[in-house]
Amino acid sequence: MFITFEGPDGCGKTTQITLLARYLSGQGIAVCHTREPGGTSIGEQVRSILHSQDNQEMVSQAEILLYSASRAQLVAEKIIPALTEGTTVLCDRYYDSTLAYQGYGRQLDLETLHLITEFATQGLKPDLTLYLDIDPEAGLRRRQIDQAAEWNRLDALALDFHRRVHEGYHRLMEAEPDRWVKVDAARPVEVIQTEIQQIVIEKLNR
Ligand code: TMP
Repeated sequence: MFITFEGPDGCGKTTQITLLARYLSGQGIAVCHTREPGGTSIGEQVRSILHSQDNQEMVSQAEILLYSASRAQLVAEKIIPALTEGTTVLCDRYYDSTLAYQGYGRQLDLETLHLITEFATQGLKPDLTLYLDIDPEAGLRRRQIDQAAEWNRLDALALDFHRRVHEGYHRLMEAEPDRWVKVDAARPVEVIQTEIQQIVIEKLNR
């Protein structure tokens, strides 16, 4: 089972995915918990280039290809081998982030993004995508006050950009309702986690 987590910045994905990984391991389920961009040695190096506030001159084409390079490495090096041995993979962001941020946020051609994505992922799609829904303004506020959170180059973009990303996620969900489950991320951490555990266990047992 390949499960991805998506949502606007500050939606609490990372906390929820960490709790879910711990819960599933406690249930005796083999879990690989990873993230994008990053998750491999090469991917983490690419992540630091992508998110550095020093790289303001980065053009959108370079941004897409760097996210896709990190993804290609992660899929080949970690995700496919884990799925092949029967491990459940939990990934903090995947190609839907490219469609939402670069496609809807930066308003780049979606068809081109689909082609690049297909190439980078070898066509691997998630079985389930959990969308942690939060108002983009509230999410950014959370990020700003969270001392542990990394404030990255994309967080620093204007609110209009983040509103388009949020809207983009809703379009992606409408296009593939069977793959996505929306979770209200404005509630307390434990309440959200309980709901996520129920959704995942139900899917694993199906
Ligand atoms: P996060 O690790 O805190 O979720 O930050 C990742 C940032 O990178 C977030 O602002 C979303 C952005 N991003 C893209 O713009 N495109 C992508 O394809 C991915 C994976 C992330």
